This record gives sequence, C-alpha cells and structure tokens, in this order.
Amino acid sequence: MQKKELRYAGKAKKLYATDNPDVFWVEYLDQATALNGVKKDRVAGKGALNNQITSLIFEQLKSEGIPSHFVKNVSKTEQLVKCVEIIPLEVVVRNVAAGSFSKRLQIEEGTPLDFPIVEFYYKEDALDDPFINDDHVKLLKLATGKEINDLKHLAREVNVALQRIFEQIGIKLIDFKIEIGRTKTGQLLLADEISPDTCRLWDLSTNEHLDKDIYRRDLGDLVPVYEEVLTRLENQFLVE
Ligand code: C5P
Repeated sequence: MQKKELRYAGKAKKLYATDNPDVFWVEYLDQATALNGVKKDRVAGKGALNNQITSLIFEQLKSEGIPSHFVKNVSKTEQLVKCVEIIPLEVVVRNVAAGSFSKRLQIEEGTPLDFPIVEFYYKEDALDDPFINDDHVKLLKLATGKEINDLKHLAREVNVALQRIFEQIGIKLIDFKIEIGRTKTGQLLLADEISPDTCRLWDLSTNEHLDKDIYRRDLGDLVPVYEEVLTRLENQFLVE
C-alpha cells in the first residue's frame, strides 16, 4: 500500500489517498486543540497514543459486532481506513452529566443520567458546531429520517460496547462523540477516532479525569494520562 497525495488536513489528523481508491491513509498528529481550535498546542507523543488507542478500541468493538472504517495500523502514528463519506454530524452520547450538558441544563457534573442521551451537533466550524435536533438534520439534508434512526441506534450500541470495554479496565464512560460515514453502497460505518480526545473517561475508583479535559481545563500534562489509558487497554485486550 502506497501513501499518495494529501486529501484533508484536520486539527488532529491528516488524510492521504493511497493506491487503492477504497482506502485512505490516516496520520495522527502531535496536536492538541480545544474550544474549536482557539486553544492549540503541540504535544509530543499524542499522535502515537491516539492512533494506538483508537486502533485497539475499533478492534475490540469489531469483536463485539460493531464494524468501523478501521483496516489496520501501518505505523505508531498511522492507520489505514476504508473510504467513507463522513456525515457532518458529531453524535454525542451521555451517561453522566458533564461538559456542555451540565452548563446548558445546570445539572451538576457527575450526576448520573436516568438513561443515555443522544445528541447531534452540526459539524461546521464557521457556526461553532451548533447543537441541533432531528428536524434540523433533515432540513439541512445531512441525513434522511431512516438514517437518523440508524445513527441513534448505532450510537446506543457503541455506548453499550464501550461501557463494557472501559469498565473492564477500571474506567467509567461519562460521555463520548462519534462520527459516522456512508460507504459507496450507503452502509453506515463508525468512522473517525475513539480516544481520550473524544470521550470523557473517569477512573472508576477515584473519579480522576483520564481524558482531554486535562488539557481543556489546564489540569496538567495529558501524555501520562493517555499513556495510562493505552497501558490499561493493552494489558486487558492485546493478544500476544
Ligand atoms: O463538550 P461536550 O460536553 O459537549 O462534549 C461531549 C463529548 O463529546 C465529550 O466526550 C467530548 O470529548 C466530545 N467532543 C468531541 N469533539 C468535539 C466536541 C465534543 O470529541 N468537537
């Protein structure tokens, strides 16, 4: 497999074409951002950590019956993925109140929710990724009514599987964001990444933050924290 021209440069990843039109080459960058790119820093080692964490999680999800765009790792910081057309929605699932949810509804961070909440945010930097509802998704033609149902169903399934994965390594899954793509045949496939950048992860016994809130809230160095998450995942799931 050959890495070809750059197709897309995001905040934390670069996407390259390959000699296979159905496969992209993703490079995870040593870049941390928050507040939609307003806060930005180079963090050595972060790309490798998120590439490895995402790969392990996607492989684990696959074994739980949830396929993703992930194909395989090609280096510490790079992976191959299936080409999909990304739906411009951030699909967020929440199990415990935190972050923007706590702020918007004035529900104290850490309050368990009676059932998982699924939310949509429109991925549009110029608008600051606004919170939108099903009707907005339809009106903006981001997804059909059936796709909206399928997206929610997939998000809930991912939530159950991820909760199980993290519980096994002593971590409580507070909330997370996923992105979903369409294949050429219209199948919906889990895409992008699942890492401490995109999940809120609290230690089961201490409630210590093991995620990007460390960076967002200036609580310390995120590298040792992400290393801790990777080590726990490897110890539990990496088959020698
Ligand atoms: O900030 P908020 O509380 O809405 O975030 C909910 C979840 O979505 C968090 O786990 C956060 O890491 C994730 N998220 C993300 N990318 C964004 C916004 C939120 O991964 N642009």
